[in-house]
Amino acid sequence: MEIKGTTKVTGVFGYPVSHSLSPVFQNSAFKYLGLDYVYIPFEVKPQDLKEAVKAIKIFHWIGVNVTIPHKKQVIKYLDELDENSKILKVVNTIHNTDGKLKGYTTDGEGFLRSLKEDGKFKPEGKNVFILGAGGSSYAICGALINEKVNSIFITNRTLENAKKLKKNLVEKLKFKNIEIIEFEKRNDKKIWQNIDLLINTTSVGMKENDPLLIEKENIEMVKFVYDIVYNRKTELLKTAENLKIPYLDGISMLVYQGAISFEIWTGKKAPVDIMKKALYEKI
Ligand SMILES: NC(=O)c1ccc[n+]([C@@H]2O[C@H](COP(=O)([O-])OP(=O)(O)OC[C@H]3O[C@@H](n4cnc5c(N)ncnc54)[C@H](OP(=O)(O)O)[C@@H]3O)[C@@H](O)[C@H]2O)c1
Repeated sequence: MEIKGTTKVTGVFGYPVSHSLSPVFQNSAFKYLGLDYVYIPFEVKPQDLKEAVKAIKIFHWIGVNVTIPHKKQVIKYLDELDENSKILKVVNTIHNTDGKLKGYTTDGEGFLRSLKEDGKFKPEGKNVFILGAGGSSYAICGALINEKVNSIFITNRTLENAKKLKKNLVEKLKFKNIEIIEFEKRNDKKIWQNIDLLINTTSVGMKENDPLLIEKENIEMVKFVYDIVYNRKTELLKTAENLKIPYLDGISMLVYQGAISFEIWTGKKAPVDIMKKALYEKI
């Protein structure tokens, strides 16, 4: 890759950020299409976020992705938000057009494209159980509701955060078929009889000794398992595999959410297969 005076800069703001896999597949996509763009990881501490966002304008960068822990906090520094970001109050992509910064959230749409294209799973009319009520859960719930799922069950370690998520979905998306399951009651057998899709949106599974949050007998009842953790094969996915239940890991979502960011920045269709290949070669 040749960096020139004309090279357009994109990247990711996160803390920590050194583990990010986005540079691998974004730069491979730029190279494949012969685009004069580069993608750089930027380590931004929470107290420096405001200044970092100013830098996007000062240096005329095309835009950046925003990851943990900035997805919610960054909103107050932007000029405009797309509809989903307004509703879900999270941003993972910033686009700079002539000094105006617009925030988007591509996690939900990336999750959906991955579920439908790689998982061959159609969420319409399905009953979904979601572990977690953090930023990615907001985006995924929003996307599933737009896709007309039948019902959503949410459990979260901190009950209050699950309640906030439910309130947001009921008020903003007018979706009423949401039930909060207390974290301690998440393995109650009666909940699991009609669940089609189980999604882990928590960070549990990222570390080697992380527990399996749902009992095997319950996982056995579901038709599809999705774990958005992407750094390793989690206990949840190993269990799904042993039970011969179709599943996807977070790599697929990572590529699709990145592909949508790529399309926002370049206006070109992302070469998804090239991006996936680069990522799988890396890991
Ligand atoms: N594949 C992809 O493209 C993609 C995209 C985005 C995120 N991710 C992954 O998704 C995960 C969550 O990201 P996020 O942005 O949603 O983070 P977040 O906003 O910080 O939310 C974290 C969630 O995990 C829960 N949690 C954390 N530690 C827990 C524990 N020990 N036991 C039970 N629950 C726990 C939190 O519960 P509390 O409310 O109780 O704190 C919260 O619901 C991360 O692993 C991230 O890498 C993947």
